[in-house]
Amino acid sequence: MALKAARRSAIAPFIVMDVLQAATARDRAASTAAGRSVHLEIGQPGTGAPRPVLDAAARALYADKLGYTETFGLPLLRESIRTHYRTAYGADVATDRIVVTTGSSAGFILAFLAAFDVGDRVALAAPGYPAYRNILSALGIEVVSLPVDSRVRFQPTVELLEAAGPLDGLIVASPANPTGTMLSAAQLAELADWCHRRGVRFVSDEIYHGIVFGGAASTALASSPSTIVINSFSKYYAMTGWRLGWMVMPPDLIRPVEVLAQNLFISPPTLPQHAAIAAFACTDELEAKVAHYRANRDLLIAELPKSGFVDFAPPDGAFYLYCDVGHMTNDSAVFCRRMLDEAGVAATPGTDFDPSRGARYVRFSFAGTRDDMSEATRRLARWRGAG
Ligand SMILES: Cc1ncc(COP(=O)(O)O)c(C=O)c1O
Repeated sequence: MALKAARRSAIAPFIVMDVLQAATARDRAASTAAGRSVHLEIGQPGTGAPRPVLDAAARALYADKLGYTETFGLPLLRESIRTHYRTAYGADVATDRIVVTTGSSAGFILAFLAAFDVGDRVALAAPGYPAYRNILSALGIEVVSLPVDSRVRFQPTVELLEAAGPLDGLIVASPANPTGTMLSAAQLAELADWCHRRGVRFVSDEIYHGIVFGGAASTALASSPSTIVINSFSKYYAMTGWRLGWMVMPPDLIRPVEVLAQNLFISPPTLPQHAAIAAFACTDELEAKVAHYRANRDLLIAELPKSGFVDFAPPDGAFYLYCDVGHMTNDSAVFCRRMLDEAGVAATPGTDFDPSRGARYVRFSFAGTRDDMSEATRRLARWRGAG
């Protein structure tokens, strides 16, 4: 007799990972560099963690027995995160509110389980990071999509919230994935305040803080006492595969998150925690990475229009361009598949970020190397018949 797979597992795939898999399968079959894909699908820095992080990891590998840590993480790392809030934002955060997690991905699971019940309604912008929607769905939480566009710089507004019906939560990201747009400090405070006054839990994903091309990003920490702030070492610190992130919890959710984390994860991975303590002292190396993303961004903005990719807003932060390709296709999944097969350029269809309107969008990531950007724009120009 066939056994069932649980209904809660019937969520949408994280399409970017499916594209990555198709592109790497293609790479394995390729016999020449020219036959390999250029990866503009994945939001992953083209260079690794800063040197002092690697040195700290090497030291810890032999000096520490690498057992479990406390559920909320190494005290020294939590202290370093506290100092980071003071230095970067002038904010004073009690160390007991800081929770180290297995990437921000584990942070979402803990935060959503602690804050929301089955059937609760949580709002988020569409387009937006796909895993918010898919994790919420797996947990039986209703996703309320806020349809945003360039007129509101792809960010939620109070007007959209007012029109959304009763809500239990709101998730925002600034800079955002896939558009790279940001909320000003005033807009962030307005949304957080609107939520706080109505008992709506405000979740601020700050994973792209640091990767900004204009003004600095504001933290929602100061906006309201009930806010959950989520962050990670993956992006600015270029440590995707180390699987380490953190949250700042409001006082009422500290113990609920602690017992969930004890049971779900025991503790975050130990070696990356030792290494990450060094990450906060690597400003020069990290800012050089941001300068590199900026140069990649400028290159794509200058070159992509030559291949017909003309309709995108220059991002304020993160490392993505969200391009309207409605004049080239009405099915971005098929379009991206052809782009990979015929041009050898991997990009992510907008349907990953916006199931209802994403068929006319493609996301390009410019997190990779300079050579990747040049080669991708050359290949796309040839593919679109302009090169
Ligand atoms: C907006 C956003 N949040 C969270 C994540 C997850 O990152 P991690 O689990 O590596 O911290 C990503 C990854 O692309 C992202 O774009």
